Amino acid sequence: MKFIKPYLFAFTALLSASCTSQKEKPSLKDLYKNDFYIGTALDLNQINEKSKKEDSLIRKEFNAITAENIMKSMYTHPQKDKYDFTLADKFVAYGEKNKMFIHGHTLIWHSQLAPWMEKIADSTEMKAFMKDHITTIVSRYKGRVNSWDVVNEALNEDGTLRKSIFLNTLGEKYLANAFKLAEKADPKVDLYYNDYNIEEPAKRAGAIALIKKIKAEGGKVDGVGIQGHWKLESPSLEEIEKSILEYSALGLKVAFTELDITVLPNPWDLKGADVNQNFEGSEKMNPYPKALPDSIQNKLAERYASIFKLFLKHKDKISRVTFWGVHDGQSWLNGWPIKGRTNYPLPFDKDLKHKKAYDSILKLKETKK
Ligand code: XIL
Repeated sequence: MKFIKPYLFAFTALLSASCTSQKEKPSLKDLYKNDFYIGTALDLNQINEKSKKEDSLIRKEFNAITAENIMKSMYTHPQKDKYDFTLADKFVAYGEKNKMFIHGHTLIWHSQLAPWMEKIADSTEMKAFMKDHITTIVSRYKGRVNSWDVVNEALNEDGTLRKSIFLNTLGEKYLANAFKLAEKADPKVDLYYNDYNIEEPAKRAGAIALIKKIKAEGGKVDGVGIQGHWKLESPSLEEIEKSILEYSALGLKVAFTELDITVLPNPWDLKGADVNQNFEGSEKMNPYPKALPDSIQNKLAERYASIFKLFLKHKDKISRVTFWGVHDGQSWLNGWPIKGRTNYPLPFDKDLKHKKAYDSILKLKETKK
């Protein structure tokens, strides 16, 4: 007996050590579960569950999803009298199957319209389009989609209204009208105004005025979506914090809806995320075609840590933080605003390995345990 005991002890210790190593590591969604949803944007292959490895990463790390493209007008409503919900149905079913928060992106946006929509030239036709489009889509997913970007990117950088096809045909009232139609189709779903750079002072003032006006005209706005296509150096944490405070003071939920951080040089200091702007490439503009240097990897990790620290400080005001893509290989920033570059904006690299940025976001929660 005297001799058996130490062996038994060693055996138990060995067993428990091997169990710990097999135990799943914590994930973003688990560690942040009491704070806000951690979302990602899914591309077509991910919605179709093409890669097992990607799929298990998505299910492990994220509890909210947005469709990166397939819920946009050109896909859901390709012709005037024809809707196509094949992919959108799959996307919603995927979220339901995995018990995820499902965000609809997007109903009224001037980009990625179907060609027939670009030809709408008068107010009668545009009014009919908006009614049919919003009612059909929102009703189809009533009670299944949890929130919608009702209007996306209605503002210019100076806070004035963008001269979109909607403004040109209907005037300002298209905004409140869109929100009213969405509420009518699904009174319980959360309705968001979504845009980029609305953490910058001038555009933020424009967004606040726009949301107030929609509400004054009887539209229901539940939240604001700050896209968050950011850089290593900007926007400042001060402006982000001011934005969280000012938007939530209006009684809105604040979501960060398309978070990514570019590490590449920006052509002519372009600001924003206008998908229609494209520029010529050069070696100088694509400095890390093979791998990201450690120094930049660290900077990215520090930037993500400081951003998430701020998010945690205001977790009571933040409903969701969604990354714009699952991993670097998928990011739209490899092709925008210059085609054919290699960017590294997300917490997972193209081989689905977690980067220092990921660890830095997790660490904020682990140290508090
Ligand atoms: C981007 C997608 O990521 C790309 O795949 C697509 O080619 C263009 O649109 N703001 C938005 C998103 O609201 O829908 C955009 O997504 C990025 C900027």
